[in-house]
Amino acid sequence: MHIFLTGASGLVGGAFAKAARRRGHTVTAITGTSTAPVAGAKTQRRLDLTNEAAVTAAILEAFPDLIVNCAAVSEPGKCDADPVRSHQLNVALPAALARVAHHVSAKLIHLSSEQVFDGTAAPYSTGSTTNPINLYGRQKLASEEAVHTAASEFAITLRAPLLTGNSPSGARSLHERLLADWAAGKTPAVFADEIRQPCTAENLAEAMLECAERDDLRGVFHWAGAEPLSRAELARRIRDHFKLDEKSAPLRVVRRAEEPALAAGRQADLTLNLKPLAGLLKTPVESFDAQLDQLVLPPPVRDWYFKQ
Ligand SMILES: NC(=O)c1ccc[n+]([C@@H]2O[C@H](COP(=O)([O-])OP(=O)(O)OC[C@H]3O[C@@H](n4cnc5c(N)ncnc54)[C@H](OP(=O)(O)O)[C@@H]3O)[C@@H](O)[C@H]2O)c1
Repeated sequence: MHIFLTGASGLVGGAFAKAARRRGHTVTAITGTSTAPVAGAKTQRRLDLTNEAAVTAAILEAFPDLIVNCAAVSEPGKCDADPVRSHQLNVALPAALARVAHHVSAKLIHLSSEQVFDGTAAPYSTGSTTNPINLYGRQKLASEEAVHTAASEFAITLRAPLLTGNSPSGARSLHERLLADWAAGKTPAVFADEIRQPCTAENLAEAMLECAERDDLRGVFHWAGAEPLSRAELARRIRDHFKLDEKSAPLRVVRRAEEPALAAGRQADLTLNLKPLAGLLKTPVESFDAQLDQLVLPPPVRDWYFKQ
């Protein structure tokens, strides 16, 4: 397949480009500000994805079989900081991609988030009631609605969990951000009662590709790892994996009720039910240990790490 990939310089997009190449597909990789080479891409170009006319023209020129949207303002805090830009990337862009996908009869794989749920009624199935409690979640839900209104017969949306894995920048994923905090001398606060079900970006990318390669899947699906774990447990296991200790990698373990300001806008439990996708795909649903085995030391923290 010829794949038009947005967000190719990001955590998921970077993993997707490599996986697509491994599986014999041809990727046109779109980046925003990044000029770094995208591993796995046949061609790559920078494009401002807030410019709908330019996006449409680029897709018409590429005439892909598949459009994969990994571009976003992917952190809730950054959405709050710039609601107009985050709406353009998180809602207007997927809507525009769906219209073009329909126009050129291309499949569209879009990424949404576990954060469409409020965290009070886990586990969540694909049909569970959505109720986002922050702007990011509201934008992701609006993107799902826009995509499946414009291109219901062409589109698959995967709601993804908190992501581990190795990003192109070495600064985006869960373990990379924790290590960066420790390298900066910080003591990250982690909730003992906030539950997430991470998977690696690489595993998510494989699931996305498998969905794209099948002809019988359309609609909204869940994908995640095998285990719901607390943020505190995730951080401790990442620390142990990198053979760090409480002195070099301190954690402040707190409960949500003790830190209401910190807990505001964050969901208590985003455990996902992975049916029906988990039973349909060959891509394994990974344990957290299997995820840890894949994590590499990110380049930005190497100097600090080897001094520990
Ligand atoms: N990360 C997570 O834990 C997580 C969890 C659940 C769901 N998701 C969803 O998964 C998807 C991918 O997330 P991610 O973590 O891989 O994102 P990410 O690492 O933050 O990457 C975002 C990508 O969007 C591109 N981009 C942003 N603004 C752009 C613009 N104006 N024009 C062109 N490109 C632009 C960036 O390009 P440049 O860097 O080159 O500017 C980058 O490639 C998103 O839909 C996100 O909501 C992520």
